[in-house]
Amino acid sequence: MAKVLLADDEVTMVQMVTELLRAEGHEVFPFTNGNAALGSLETVAPELVITDLYLDKTSAQGIEILHKARSLNPPAIVIVITGFGSIETAVEAMKKGAYDYLEKPFKLDELKLCIQRALSYNTAISENVYLRKQLKKKYQFSQIVGSSAKMQEVFKMIERVADTDSTILVLGESGTGKELVAKALHYNSRRQLSPFVPVNCSALPENLLESELFGHRKGAFTGAINDKKGLFQEADGGTIFLDEVGSMSAMLQSRLLRVLQEREVRRVGDNVPIYVNVRVVAASNEPLEKRIKDGTFREDLYYRLNVIPILLPSLRERRDDIPLLVSHFLRDKVHARTGKPFQITRQAMEVLCAHHWQGNVRELENAIERACALCEDNVIRVADLPPAFQQYFKESPSDTVFAVPSVPSTSQSRTNPAQALYPVSGTSAQTGSSAPETGASRALGPLKTFLREQELAFLNQALAYTGGDKEKAAELLNISLATLYRKLSEDEEL
Ligand SMILES: Nc1ncnc2c1ncn2[C@@H]1O[C@H](COP(=O)(O)OP(=O)(O)OP(=O)(O)O)[C@@H](O)[C@H]1O
Ligand SMILES: [Mg+2]
Repeated sequence: MAKVLLADDEVTMVQMVTELLRAEGHEVFPFTNGNAALGSLETVAPELVITDLYLDKTSAQGIEILHKARSLNPPAIVIVITGFGSIETAVEAMKKGAYDYLEKPFKLDELKLCIQRALSYNTAISENVYLRKQLKKKYQFSQIVGSSAKMQEVFKMIERVADTDSTILVLGESGTGKELVAKALHYNSRRQLSPFVPVNCSALPENLLESELFGHRKGAFTGAINDKKGLFQEADGGTIFLDEVGSMSAMLQSRLLRVLQEREVRRVGDNVPIYVNVRVVAASNEPLEKRIKDGTFREDLYYRLNVIPILLPSLRERRDDIPLLVSHFLRDKVHARTGKPFQITRQAMEVLCAHHWQGNVRELENAIERACALCEDNVIRVADLPPAFQQYFKESPSDTVFAVPSVPSTSQSRTNPAQALYPVSGTSAQTGSSAPETGASRALGPLKTFLREQELAFLNQALAYTGGDKEKAAELLNISLATLYRKLSEDEEL
């Protein structure tokens, strides 16, 4: 049983097909006027549309009905009916997304068979969509880590807009996860069975990018030895991800604008428009307003792209997510790949929380990868972090650098609370337990040194929390700013 919308200006034809479909148990919405059929598409939301291509001249034509039916969400499957000998228009309709066509006059059995095929195809697609949706939802969302308020906002937004067809502009510094968000949008939409096609707009020169995006006809330029489908066509039914959209040339911007307005592409060297049902997600790591001001980005294109903006926070704006991200990289990435469980000391985690993270999550991921490769005993210590971090640590005084051991390890492990393991798993917290000491261990020292270590670790934690803002940190610690400065500089005395 399916909802079928039928449009034909021949009344007898409409009556006959309606009867046939009702006898088969379908719910039929028959129309003899193109405008009425077109106007009812959204409210009826049919699974199948059967339309004559040529309707009453004064009303909307079959091709418009086809176009709208394909852009519904989910798209309706369309069978077009053409007059005898008009195979070219049928081919045109197929190009524009029709599932099949029937040439008049046709036998009722032919129509029945065609409808059966179309509906079983549609059922297969939607069942699959549902199953995959369950799977991908779980999979894709867990890939984006963040419990900070700013990331919660982002998740809410993704959930709200994923299943719409709106164009989305993802904004954020390099490495903040723009591509991850684009994928989450795709895999949480009903387009998930169709391709997700990422394109880096800054990676190719203008002409190459043009033929990549829109395709070309054989002979359109030297080297075009075959017809080539463009990426917009490859993404039909799915999502195209235009990364670094701000770097597109003026010519490509105007071509993109056309696609967004008309939903059709023209191959290089071809004038025939090809209808595409593609959702566009664009991304930029620089504010596009700046480009509009200096005249390198079209304002009208910006408004088309910016229908729904998703702004990704930089990592330093959501430092409280760092431990979670570290845990994710250690468990879900490094552990999954190497089979080795890694841990990290508290001080190392504090250094990570205090860093500026110009390269955002990507830089953090790389730092963790590197540390895992370098560290001993599968425990990451401050010394395993990139050299720039050590320098940073010296600037913001701490005794960890000071405490770097020169004493070879003994076989006995000792407790060093400042180096307590950070509970990366979140549940199996090991706070207070000791990192097994190895070459990086050191001898027990005077109590004063230990207390000083604790104090500095605490100060650094506060500074990490406030993003290095000493005034805020002092407020948080309930001490004066002068005291904070003094306590930080006392380190030299140690
Ligand atoms: N919230 C996150 N949770 C887990 N991993 C993340 C997160 N954000 C980014 N990553 C990881 O960081 C790396 C960079 O992410 P991605 O490529 O999506 O960033 P981007 O914003 O597109 O960067 P660029 O502007 O440089 O292209 C990827 O390996 C990605 O898996
Ligand atoms: Mg990217």
